[in-house]
Amino acid sequence: MNKTFSPTWRGLLAACACSFAMSATAQDFPNRPITMVMPYAPGGPGDVITRVVAGAFQRILGQQVVVENPAGASGTVGSTRVARAKPDGYTLLMIHVSHATNQAMFKSLPYDPVADFEPIGSATSGPMLIAARNGFPAKDLPEFISYLRANAPKISLAHAGVGSASHLCGLMMQSVLGVKLNEIPYKGTGPALNDLMGGQVDLLCDQTSGTVPSVKGGKIKPYAAAGRSRLPQLPEVPAISEAGVQGFDINISFGLYAPKGTPKPVIDTLTATLQKVVTDPDVRQRLEGMGVSAVPVERARPEALRAHLRQEIEVLGGLLIKSGVKPD
Ligand code: MLT
Repeated sequence: MNKTFSPTWRGLLAACACSFAMSATAQDFPNRPITMVMPYAPGGPGDVITRVVAGAFQRILGQQVVVENPAGASGTVGSTRVARAKPDGYTLLMIHVSHATNQAMFKSLPYDPVADFEPIGSATSGPMLIAARNGFPAKDLPEFISYLRANAPKISLAHAGVGSASHLCGLMMQSVLGVKLNEIPYKGTGPALNDLMGGQVDLLCDQTSGTVPSVKGGKIKPYAAAGRSRLPQLPEVPAISEAGVQGFDINISFGLYAPKGTPKPVIDTLTATLQKVVTDPDVRQRLEGMGVSAVPVERARPEALRAHLRQEIEVLGGLLIKSGVKPD
């Protein structure tokens, strides 16, 4: 007898088959290499942090994790790639504050930073350092501030694109000092740091995972930690608050995302792996050597990253608009 199924039954069977296939996929996840997208240029502070996290993921999951850097447009090139990737857990995004600020900076983003991503959890957080090219004509922080106020239009400030961490830090510094510098955007602060070391640009405010090694190597000149506290790695460098500058304290946190629609069992596996990474003593020690902290394990969860992103969208997006930055 040629038994045919009614459309309802067919739909139900198809749904069961699809859910079985997804569950089978999720159960043996990962069974091939994972790509971790870092949407800034290689060699920058984000790239350095991502490679530490990716290496730990690879060791824990027993599966290759490849870091790729589709950089450009303040991290939106790489973010778009992940937003459009197959939601199977094999393409992930490691990003920081620009995931929040880009919503305010671009009139028509090709993705929604909240709706088009599944948060996995926060990974790291870290302070920033204000540094200059060697030979910059200020012997200490007070003289640095006076020199900026007297020569602002002639001074160049590098950053990694509108809404990036280095751009935000540069904006805050200019705002609290009441100066307007000549901003030079790059595809990441890896190439920006090269120009700072080469003397092609005057200043850069960047994350410690990028700047501390160059300061220790005598390749750039530190002036201040961008906040209320000195950096443990550079105790001789003052905090900008020591010069009487208030209201300037920036800390940059990186989080891991998957495309919207990634099956929950896969997200659970990735979150569990991230929690092992942030509690791993070797990982914590490597990050601390760069001046970066792995987050407490309670932040390495989807709901914590979701809340962090919403807070950054609200606070930092507003700061950029107030600072007069015009959305693209
Ligand atoms: C930034 O926001 O400045 C980026 O972190 C720079 C980078 O990682 O290249």
